[in-house]
Amino acid sequence: MLDKSDKELRGTFGKFATGVAAITFVSSKGLKLGITINSYTSLSLNPPMILWCLDKVSDLYQEIINLDNYVINFLSDSQKDVAHLLSQKNDHSLESIDCIQDEKGIKIKNCIGWISCSKDKSIDSGDHSILIANVIDYSINKGNPLIFWESSYRSISE
Ligand SMILES: Cc1cc2nc3c(=O)[nH]c(=O)nc-3n(C[C@H](O)[C@H](O)[C@H](O)COP(=O)(O)O)c2cc1C
Repeated sequence: MLDKSDKELRGTFGKFATGVAAITFVSSKGLKLGITINSYTSLSLNPPMILWCLDKVSDLYQEIINLDNYVINFLSDSQKDVAHLLSQKNDHSLESIDCIQDEKGIKIKNCIGWISCSKDKSIDSGDHSILIANVIDYSINKGNPLIFWESSYRSISE
């Protein structure tokens, strides 16, 4: 047990800058849904695999942990509105967001990269589960990434 506040821990975790992604999927009820994440990381090149972490308190937890397929959309710095919308509790609908759907999943338009995934396994750890997935397809696009740092969305400035 740490003798420091949750706020300090959050502040420390938040010093690590990340990109921002949206997981998109079709729910068991046939709804097109998405959730904003920043815990994505590449895991393995051969075989190609990725991982990300899902909060156990998410209303979408049962739905997502049982998904066989989903897409990871890397958001561009012009998609703060998408990140914001898909991080709102009780509102994970993709209805108002421009998407393309095919047999490999739902892709949000104008992202800078997409990875279609199939479930490998999940590992229960702490207050999250680690979701490990196989890469079944991928593509990239022009643009700059949306960055999350110190609890705020940022752009790369060089
Ligand atoms: C920048 C950002 C990154 C996030 N990263 C994650 C994440 O990696 N994993 C996760 O489970 N939730 C993450 N969230 C929280 C979800 O997007 C969302 O706010 C939360 O799931 C809402 O609650 P609900 O799932 O019960 O609707 C993140 C939110 C933001 C704004």
